[in-house]
Amino acid sequence: MKLFIDSANVNEVKDAASWGVISGVTTNPSLALKAGKPYKDSVLEIARLVDGPISVEGVAMKAGEIVAEAKEISSWHKNFVVKVAMGEEGIKAVRELSSKGVKTNVTLVFSVNQALLAALAGASFVSPFIGRLDDNGQDGMQLIRDIMLCYKNYGLEKRTSVIVASVRHPLHVIDAAKAGAPISTVPYGVLRQMFKHSLTDAGIKKFLEDHAALEALHKK
Ligand code: G3P
Repeated sequence: MKLFIDSANVNEVKDAASWGVISGVTTNPSLALKAGKPYKDSVLEIARLVDGPISVEGVAMKAGEIVAEAKEISSWHKNFVVKVAMGEEGIKAVRELSSKGVKTNVTLVFSVNQALLAALAGASFVSPFIGRLDDNGQDGMQLIRDIMLCYKNYGLEKRTSVIVASVRHPLHVIDAAKAGAPISTVPYGVLRQMFKHSLTDAGIKKFLEDHAALEALHKK
């Protein structure tokens, strides 16, 4: 399983990259707004920090315009993957882009059918938003299990990688791994929570205390 960071904040990406366990980045216009810099500047800086797929979202809504915008975005950096919103125009554009070798990530996916369409169009990645489904009173993680099952029935997981997105807490990451999802994109705060366990903290404290006690004993 791969971990991506879901952030357009350069400082967050820099810190997460220093851990050596992050292999990609996902961004969107809302994350870019929060980061407070022009979007292109943020993602180009991020590309210097993480050598892996970096999803950058376009805003065009008509197939021809999506294709033109995606070609432009993908020309900024070799690792850029263009996020395209689910829909008839988006899927039409993804089909054309995939035939031209432009990598895409179909975003705002909330059903198995949408995920199947993304794979059939040749998307490199598909992003089901599990947290938003949970917020809506639905079971986000069940969608991941269902997509993995349906993709595996036809070998589609070899063509299109599922990125579990809209992750809200560490349990989402565990359940995504149990479901066999290849990638989870995780906000910085949740990534930091993944390191934590109260027994680890207590264990470190005790080992340090005992080490100090042993040193003191042998100094006497
Ligand atoms: O990767 C998609 C993600 O950024 C959406 O998350 O928390 O806005 O639902 P959220």
